[in-house]
Amino acid sequence: MYTIRPCTPADAPGVVAVARATWRATYAGILPEEVQEQALAQWYAPELIARRAAAGRIVFLVATDDAGQVVGYIQFGPRETPGDAELWAIYVLPEHQGRGIGRRLLDEAVARLRQRRPVERVYVQVERENRIGRAFYERVGFRPVREYEDEIFGHASPMVEMCLTLPSATEAAT
Ligand SMILES: CC(C)(COP(=O)(O)OP(=O)(O)OC[C@H]1O[C@@H](n2cnc3c(N)ncnc32)[C@H](O)[C@@H]1OP(=O)(O)O)[C@@H](O)C(=O)NCCC(=O)NCCS
Repeated sequence: MYTIRPCTPADAPGVVAVARATWRATYAGILPEEVQEQALAQWYAPELIARRAAAGRIVFLVATDDAGQVVGYIQFGPRETPGDAELWAIYVLPEHQGRGIGRRLLDEAVARLRQRRPVERVYVQVERENRIGRAFYERVGFRPVREYEDEIFGHASPMVEMCLTLPSATEAAT
C-alpha cells in the first residue's frame, strides 16, 4: 500500500534518493552523466528540497511505501498565465513504476492545486527521447503542443512540451 501526502522537510533525503536513482535509470543514453550530476547537485540539493517543502508555496507531494520510505514525488511550479499550471517533476523509483503511483500523484496534486486556484491546463516539459515519461503523459491525457531544444548545463536537449486540458470544475463535479 502506498500513501500520498505533502512533502515535509524530513522527506528531503528520501526525495533526493528517488531523484538520483530514477534519473540514472531514465536519462541513461539521453543526458550525459556529468550533466545529470550537475543538474541533480543544483536542483536536488537537500537543503533546497527541505526549504521548498517547508515553504509550502508549491504543491509538492510524496508517495511512501508501507515502511514509510519515499518511493516517488511530484512538484508543481508557478506559471504566469491564469488557468495554467506547470508540472515540474514527477518521478517514481523504477521498481515501483507501473503500479498506479504516478497517476495517483498527478490526480492528488491537481486536486490540491485546484483547491488553491482555478486550473484548466497543466503543462510539462519532457525530453523527446524519454519514452517512458512520454508514454505515461499520453496515457493520462497529455498531448504534445510544441517541440524545441533546451540547453541543460551546456547539453542541447530536444524537448517536447505537452499539455493536459482538465475538465472544467463543474464538469468534474458531475
Ligand atoms: C512517468 C512515471 C512517473 C509514471 O509513474 P508510474 O507509477 O509508473 O505510472 P502509473 O503506474 O500510475 O501509470 C499510469 C498510466 O500510464 C501508463 N504507463 C505508465 N508507464 C508507461 C509506459 N512506460 N508505457 C506505456 N504506458 C505507461 C500505465 O499503463 C497507466 O495506464 P492505465 O492506468 O490506463 O493502466 C514513472 O514511470 C517514472 O518515474 N518514470 C521515469 C521518470 C520520468 O520520466 N518522469 C517524467 C519526467 S518529465
